[in-house]
Amino acid sequence: MLDGKKVIFSGMQATGNLTLGNYLGALKNWAQLTDEYECYYCVVDEHSITIRQDPAVLRKRARALLILYIAAGIDPEKSVLYFQSHVSAHAELAWILNCYTYMGEMSRMTQFKDKSAKHEDNINVGLFAYPVLMAADILLYQADLVPVGIDQKQHLEICRDIAERFNNIYGDVFTIPDGYYGSTGAKVMSLQNPEKKMSKSDENPNASIYLMDDTDTIMRKFKRAVTDSLGVIGYGPEQPGISNLIDIYCACTGKKVEEALKEFDGRGYGELKMAVGEAVCGQLAPLQAEVARLTKEKDYIDRIIKNNAERAAYTAGKTLRKVQHKIGFPDRIR
Ligand code: TRP
Repeated sequence: MLDGKKVIFSGMQATGNLTLGNYLGALKNWAQLTDEYECYYCVVDEHSITIRQDPAVLRKRARALLILYIAAGIDPEKSVLYFQSHVSAHAELAWILNCYTYMGEMSRMTQFKDKSAKHEDNINVGLFAYPVLMAADILLYQADLVPVGIDQKQHLEICRDIAERFNNIYGDVFTIPDGYYGSTGAKVMSLQNPEKKMSKSDENPNASIYLMDDTDTIMRKFKRAVTDSLGVIGYGPEQPGISNLIDIYCACTGKKVEEALKEFDGRGYGELKMAVGEAVCGQLAPLQAEVARLTKEKDYIDRIIKNNAERAAYTAGKTLRKVQHKIGFPDRIR
């Protein structure tokens, strides 16, 4: 904890094309937390290889994601933005924590069950131990808060269990982190099936708005968005499609749901779709321009990658050495 600020840690995978859901639900909020907290935002490339990746694509996407963090308004001087693979303490602590985690605990993880069903030909040990690496990520920085989607809640709980187990044996080594389940972040649903979360791996390209979609594509996808046959703009479980459009509109404009409902009172679905499409374009166009600008600043980005990895390694190294000492590894000779 620096300057008495609480520590935030979060990470995102560079696999798949990021969607509006990743931006409104996560990145945009991450940026809003950087004044109040000491923030570490990681590109978790080591998690990505639990599913087979094309090396050239992974490398490119990881760099693009780091650039996107900056474009989203996260200041790399203030917060720490880096690649997990550049800080070897992540893998080292993960190994140690593996020895304090039970097979039974990992077997119960729903994401492991889902992913192993989906990738039957590659149920590797890394996929099984994925939550342990995630615990190492968080605990290395003594994070107080971890902003994640509700789908990561189980992983965060196991992280707390592992940390408490370790602390019970060795004393207060790790801060026990709390989840920060986007009280401000919007949960963006699929445009084609509004009962389902907008996903970067959806096969239907009309279901998701990708962060790099151009204006025409965005407007077209909103025009095709699934609604209902009620014909009135309302908000609630009986109108998931319209509610999703309203949520997206509010997340982009900063308006409250009631305000939006008043604004669209008596208007048609077509008008709502246009307004939401325009609001989304208004958010994404400047983001895309900033990504394009930063992508050309190769030296600047390289410098950030190097500096930030060093800053992360410094903090992480302190925790790792403490852990190594506690469990009985010989101290280093300096
Ligand atoms: N498992 C997270 C996800 O898929 C990504 C992640 C890895 C993460 N390590 C983390 C998130 C640490 C928060 C903290 O969304």
